Amino acid sequence: MERILLIGSGGREHALTVALLHSPSCEKLWVAPGNPGIAREAECVALRLDDHTDLARWCEQQRVTLVVVGPEQPLCDGLADVLRQHDVDVFGPSKAASQLEGSKGFSKDLMQRLSIPTAPYRRFGMHEHAAATDYVLQHAVPVVIKYDGLAAGKGVVVAATHDEAQRAIDDMMRGMFGDDGVVIEGFLEGEEVSVFAICDGERFLLLAPAQDHKRAGDDDTGKNTGGMGAYAPAGIATAEVMERVSTSIVQPLLRGMTEMGTPFIGCLFCGLMVRDNHPSVVEFNVRFGDPETQAVLSVLDADVAALLASAARGALDPSTVRSTQRGSACNVVLASAGYPDQYEKGLPIAGIDRAEEDPQVTVFHAGTAMKNNQLVTNGGRVLGVTAIGETLDEAMRRSYAAVEKITYATKMFRTDIGKKAR
Ligand SMILES: Nc1ncnc2c1ncn2[C@@H]1O[C@H](COP(=O)(O)OP(=O)(O)O)[C@@H](O)[C@H]1O
Ligand SMILES: [Mg+2]
Repeated sequence: MERILLIGSGGREHALTVALLHSPSCEKLWVAPGNPGIAREAECVALRLDDHTDLARWCEQQRVTLVVVGPEQPLCDGLADVLRQHDVDVFGPSKAASQLEGSKGFSKDLMQRLSIPTAPYRRFGMHEHAAATDYVLQHAVPVVIKYDGLAAGKGVVVAATHDEAQRAIDDMMRGMFGDDGVVIEGFLEGEEVSVFAICDGERFLLLAPAQDHKRAGDDDTGKNTGGMGAYAPAGIATAEVMERVSTSIVQPLLRGMTEMGTPFIGCLFCGLMVRDNHPSVVEFNVRFGDPETQAVLSVLDADVAALLASAARGALDPSTVRSTQRGSACNVVLASAGYPDQYEKGLPIAGIDRAEEDPQVTVFHAGTAMKNNQLVTNGGRVLGVTAIGETLDEAMRRSYAAVEKITYATKMFRTDIGKKAR
């Protein structure tokens, strides 16, 4: 039986909370810091996430058998390494392996060396402003400019013109996000899909493919966001595509990481562009994605606690999974008007209980807070309304029916999550 500490506070962690609590192998679950939705189901603890040694000691005292890390920052900061030094099992990669997300240049160099399909690219350091400018002016548009380090989802510009590309390089080389330099890469045509691989360093298991909706407005218009909704499984990732993800992407990557002495243990998020049944890697992340996780875990029929624990211990156990695709799930993000720019916080939220009267609906909390005993908005993405159904159509109908029952003054959402699938 597992005594689990889950790290994080968003919709992804709320979805993980529900999945872990439904696991026969879960004896006890703490979440640090959690959020008001998580607090209704599990014990939230106010641990300092930046003091890794203190966190490890707390785990020893509470006899924690498994730590599951939600967000990338603590992983890139080396939390998993410190926990392992204290003999605490962790589902999440080491600091060295987290470079797959922490440095886009690292990840591109590795993919090139391992012949993993990805867009052609070049890396430029902060001292190479002029060279980057020359390169981009000779490059066909659209062209993609990426800050090399972590940028909270704001460090990528898909430039349609040379002017736009030049501005992006100027901004990044001026240190807008830090001093990690830039990657300039070719534009990939196709449709995006996210595939999560649960990895134990050597073996892996692919979960249901999911499709996120990154733009703020319907029909993929407006600004880029952290994600406005997702559905799973995504039909664009056919069996042939999934086979290629296994053999041409995840397998060589895990082998390459092990050969470098930095085996990957955790959730490998493959951000893919699919064209004519061929996937190319847009990026890797080293943790579950948000909001896709809400949909992917909703169709996963497994003892998730046992699955993640087995991976953390280097002995992935596929028998913990009955099905990765039990029906379909649709997740609609309820955001705050103005997101991803300025938005108001602290507005009262009502109707979640009514929305959850449908037993197939779960409302995950992303950016909420309690103020004087009242649930209020506290972020750009507020809630994730997720429904399951035998078909995607059914899941979409249920989630949008539930969306109607939730009210707050700045409520904003896309009305077309899942429509791309048809
Ligand atoms: N080479 C590319 N071709 C086409 N679109 C891209 C390419 N690279 C990134 N994008 C678009 O930009 C988005 C963000 O890029 P990504 O590499 O995922 O960075 P991050 O998630 O760290 O912001 C992607 O989801 C995709 O829509
Ligand atoms: Mg991305």
